[in-house]
Amino acid sequence: MIVARTREELAAARDRLAGTVAVVMTMGALHEGHRALMRHARALADSVVVTVFVNPLQFGPAEDLARYPRPFDADVKACAEEGADVVFAPVPDVVYPDGDPVVRVTAGPLGDVLEGASRPGHFDGVLTVVAKLLHLTRPDVAVFGAKDAQQLVLVRRMVRDLDVGVTIVGVETVREADGLALSSRNAYLSPDERTAALAISRALREAETVAPQGPAAVLVAANDVLDAEPGLRVEYVALVDPDTLAPVDRSTERALLAVAARSGSTRLIDNVTIPVGDRPTGMYSKET
Ligand code: PAF
Repeated sequence: MIVARTREELAAARDRLAGTVAVVMTMGALHEGHRALMRHARALADSVVVTVFVNPLQFGPAEDLARYPRPFDADVKACAEEGADVVFAPVPDVVYPDGDPVVRVTAGPLGDVLEGASRPGHFDGVLTVVAKLLHLTRPDVAVFGAKDAQQLVLVRRMVRDLDVGVTIVGVETVREADGLALSSRNAYLSPDERTAALAISRALREAETVAPQGPAAVLVAANDVLDAEPGLRVEYVALVDPDTLAPVDRSTERALLAVAARSGSTRLIDNVTIPVGDRPTGMYSKET
């Protein structure tokens, strides 16, 4: 496995890769969810490139850029164990050699709702770095986790709207045995905060059980569970179309139930895609 720190090292390593290439983009602090993405990538392509880059452009001024975990050696080990061929781990000056980019990808209205309402400019930062990393790594396939559902919607939309020649594949969220969705930010949680955070996945499960009763029942069930947990500050609970993010108010085969909440100072998100109302046909989708 080659660890490339510069554009030149990446270009040389990329030129040596044979066959199809899949990329897994990460900000490091790799956990089992990232490993699942890497395994998925391995199954889809002949070669796998993993990017490890904490992208300053997608953090707001009051967010956790400085304290975001950066366990670099452990990340490289995880990539090697999962059979990655190349790890691209640049510093910000390599990705943004002229400083903050003047020209950026803008997410448009889809970037202003849900996560974007709490994190202005976040998705412009995400899409700008995703576009740059696609250009630098030149993959056939890019694999993203379904936990960041809005990010996945927007990456798909960018690829379609800007005719980027890559296939985007979404992979199911990986959870702890007790339901907590894996996230690099779970490392910030104290034991009590972690217990409170469990209400998020519980709310999603509870909502799923009443989903045949329709959208209103889904939202009531999710809010009831979240409201009963005093350790959580809920930012939003939304039932939306998984492609357009428009609110869902009638029966549908696929609706995205998304939650954002703070446990202590840690902001967590989670979601599930479910059939709602009188036409349920399946449960958790494997690929989104
Ligand atoms: O999902 C993430 O970890 C980041 O948003 C990504 C896609 C690596 C871009 O920085």
